[in-house]
Amino acid sequence: MEEIKCSLCEDTGWVETKGGVKKCACRYSEITEEIFRRMNIPKRYRDKEIENFYPEKKYGHQLILNRIEDYINSDDFLEGKGLFLVGPPGVGKTHLAVGVLKEFFKRKGIVGLFYDTRSLLFNLKASFDGLTSSREILEDVVEAPILVLDDLGSERLSDWARDILHYIIINRYNDLKPIIITSNIELKNKKKVEGDLLENTLEERMGQAIASRLSEMCEILPVKGKDRRGTALNEKNGAVK
Ligand SMILES: Nc1ncnc2c1ncn2[C@@H]1O[C@H](COP(=O)(O)OP(=O)(O)O)[C@@H](O)[C@H]1O
Ligand SMILES: [Mg+2]
Repeated sequence: MEEIKCSLCEDTGWVETKGGVKKCACRYSEITEEIFRRMNIPKRYRDKEIENFYPEKKYGHQLILNRIEDYINSDDFLEGKGLFLVGPPGVGKTHLAVGVLKEFFKRKGIVGLFYDTRSLLFNLKASFDGLTSSREILEDVVEAPILVLDDLGSERLSDWARDILHYIIINRYNDLKPIIITSNIELKNKKKVEGDLLENTLEERMGQAIASRLSEMCEILPVKGKDRRGTALNEKNGAVK
């Protein structure tokens, strides 16, 4: 007799739900080239998983992983809840954001969309007609069931860029569509003491309306660590406790 691989659906591909049947999670586990392309996940990050993010005790990584696991397992995304991963460069923010997108596909069959924010703005501005028009890109970004905006606020924004980001965020906010953000800068200025110099924050760069919506939509997860980029201490040798 052949061995049954999936304990959920006994290899039928379908599991019972309250209202009928749904496709079993095992049918999504394979992420094909086509799916990676639709999700726009960059080649460098395609093998990044929540599972191969190695937690370091001294940076409290396990807590972050637990929060992320809870988020993926919950239905919070249906109410437009997302995550705001904030921390210095090279600590694994993009790795984690890609990991979340991949889990959404593997466990729920949801095809999300990844964009490096600067590239998104550049693509929209370049608007190379004939291939994909700005309007189509913008529609995809606004409509995606889950969107990653990678490296938001990493530079000062022109009025035009700020307007576009406003449009994307406000529309997703209104439609209860989740955003996973990674950023090197804090969402809001923590020091409200008069006379303090303004820090670089998203609030300062994108305005209060956006910052307050993002703080309502996203759970803030500060990611700490050392800059692993370009060092031998990456995923394979990374299990340093
Ligand atoms: N805890 C970790 N475990 C495994 N790999 C990690 C970890 N932290 C960072 N990395 C790796 O280090 C590199 C830089 O991470 P990245 O996600 O690009 O950083 P960030 O987006 O925070 O600048 C990537 O190759 C990533 O996979
Ligand atoms: Mg990054």
